[in-house]
Amino acid sequence: MLRVVVMVSGGGTNLQAIIDGIANKEIEHAHIVGVISNNYGVYALERAAKAGIDHAVVSPKDFADRTSFNEALLDKVRSYEPDLIVLAGFLVVIPEKMIDEYENRIINIHPSLIPSFCGTGYYGLKVHEAALARGVKLTGATVHYVDKGTDTGPIILQKAVEVKDGDTPEILQRRVMEEAEWKLLPEAISKIAKEKI
Ligand code: GAR
Repeated sequence: MLRVVVMVSGGGTNLQAIIDGIANKEIEHAHIVGVISNNYGVYALERAAKAGIDHAVVSPKDFADRTSFNEALLDKVRSYEPDLIVLAGFLVVIPEKMIDEYENRIINIHPSLIPSFCGTGYYGLKVHEAALARGVKLTGATVHYVDKGTDTGPIILQKAVEVKDGDTPEILQRRVMEEAEWKLLPEAISKIAKEKI
């Protein structure tokens, strides 16, 4: 059984897709051992609670500086003894020490076709705003391994999604989630879990 830790910052629809994927056996040989949020009060934590999954908040607001926050975050991750760490809308820069310690065991979902609209400053709705501003006709989502760059690690899966006339960033975000993200992330975890056994 692959021990999965999911890291979140917000609504947690991607976390929900993983929870559902495990429940309906789309993902086999994996279970979520913990959910970690950097924000208090986000709906992702409620999703974890409803599914009976252990969850915790490690917020930078509770620490004097970034170094002590990073240490606390890494300690929390270690406490779950994960085989795989999934960044599911986790909008915090991952400490380098964690990337070294969990090399090739951290994956991220990004709401564009990397290498478009990625890197520093491109997260959440901002990605879709940029795609619409550039006028692309296709966008999508990418699941990739996390290395020390921002969105630069090896790509695992990608799926294209059409941009339609009249799209707003919110409408496009929703379509990218429905047609790409919520499918790709469970698929990537399932693939990694299968390869491990
Ligand atoms: C998702 O669209 C995810 O791809 C994005 O944040 C959203 C989180 O939604 N992640 C990034 O932009 C990472 N650079 P969720 O909390 O509903 O899963």
